[in-house]
Order: sequence, then structure tokens, then C-alpha cells
Amino acid sequence: MSDSKIIVALDYSTADAAITMASQLDPQRCRLKVGKELFTRSGPAVVESLVSRGFDIFLDLKYHDIPSTVAKACAAAADLGVWMLNVHTLGGGAMMRAAHESIGNQSDRPLLIGVTLLTSMDQTAFEQIGLQGTIADTVLRLAKLADESGLDGVVCSAQEAGKLRIQHGPDFQLVTPGIRPENSENGDQHRTMTPAEALAAGSSFLVIGRPITAAPDPMAALVDIENSLL
Ligand code: C5P
Repeated sequence: MSDSKIIVALDYSTADAAITMASQLDPQRCRLKVGKELFTRSGPAVVESLVSRGFDIFLDLKYHDIPSTVAKACAAAADLGVWMLNVHTLGGGAMMRAAHESIGNQSDRPLLIGVTLLTSMDQTAFEQIGLQGTIADTVLRLAKLADESGLDGVVCSAQEAGKLRIQHGPDFQLVTPGIRPENSENGDQHRTMTPAEALAAGSSFLVIGRPITAAPDPMAALVDIENSLL
């Protein structure tokens, strides 16, 4: 198991591409995120293969269904040996409690994280689905419900991390994408923070994709980021 705060997003469509990238990285120096595209195309085999290479895997499938279905999906993910998995907080307290109960209490159980509101959701989309108030207050409310329902933390933007850290204390895991090292392309990310800024703001783990995976030497890019945190 790594003690790295860096989770490299393996946003690939084939297991071969994902494993080729993983083989250029050191499992002691980063963890890996497998999301919906890679998992839907390559299935559990790619997760098992990455776990067998010594990587901690964040399975980012954002489960959202009735409590019993989510509980069984979370138990299945835990059986794959993943280090972290997530559910959608909009599934509600009963769903999150069922997820929490399904993964057990052993010290090596996966971390269970909630997605609050997708960052792609703007105020118009938020109101369209009947939600009221502000996006910021809703994120705080959903994170509170996640904490009360036994989740270990939430995915959030680094901009939200400060308030969430105050609301939840030091043991709540804040997993933040939208990270861009100094001098790297923003791509389609807006409102980015550097790795050092995000950790200073209260992030526990940094999800970083293209600044590492699209670099000519991904391991060198990872080491540069580690050095920026010293
Ligand atoms: O390449 P990049 O660093 O932008 O990748 C970020 C990763 O984090 C992608 O896998 C993306 O889907 C994910 N993500 C995100 N913003 C969110 C939630 C997840 O960028 N709000």
C-alpha cells in the first residue's frame, strides 16, 4: 500500500492502454483511479490486474440506486480489492448507510467516498431538477449527510475543501480533482488549483490525470509534483 496523496486518473478506453501507463508508474508513489469508461469496456479484470501489480485502486463508479443494489455493488467492489470506491450522495442516507454496512469494518476495508453535486452542474441545471438554495450550501448539506451516514469523505473541488475541512474535522477524506501543476495546460478544467494549493486548502487526496498521463515521461511528471509538495 502506498502512502501517496496522488491518485492518477487512468482515463483510457482499453485495458492495454491503462496497463501500459501503469507500468510506467511506481505503485509506492501513486494510486490509480479507474472510472466508468475503462471499467465498462474492460471490466473487473483490469482492476484485478492493476491490484496484482501492487496499486491502490480508486474505483470511481459513483453508485446511485436503491439501497440493496448499491450495497451489493459496493460489496462486489470490495471483493475486487479496491482501496477506495464511491457512491452518489443524492441516493440518500439509507443508500449510503447500506453501502457503509456492506463493506464491513475490518481495518483493510475500502474507503467509501460520496460524490456531492457534479461540478458540471450549474445553477440552471440544479434548479431544473427541483433543488433549491445555492450549490455551495447543497454541497455542504450533502457532505454532512454523507458523514452522518458513515461515509469516509467526499469528492469535492479544492475550492470547497476549506469549508468542508472546518465542517468535518481532520479525519474526513477530501478527494479533489481539477488539479493543475504550475505551467500545465488547463484543458477542459476550470477553477483549477496547484497540488500544493489544494493540500493547503484541506485536500486529502489529489486526482490528477492528463498532467501526468499525457506527459512525455509520466513518472518524471509525478516526481515533479512530489517535489512541488516538499
Ligand atoms: O485529466 P484531469 O486531471 O483533468 O482528470 C481529472 C479526473 O478527475 C478525470 O477522471 C475526471 O473525470 C475526474 N473528475 C473531475 N471533476 C470532477 C469529478 C471527477 O475532473 N468534479
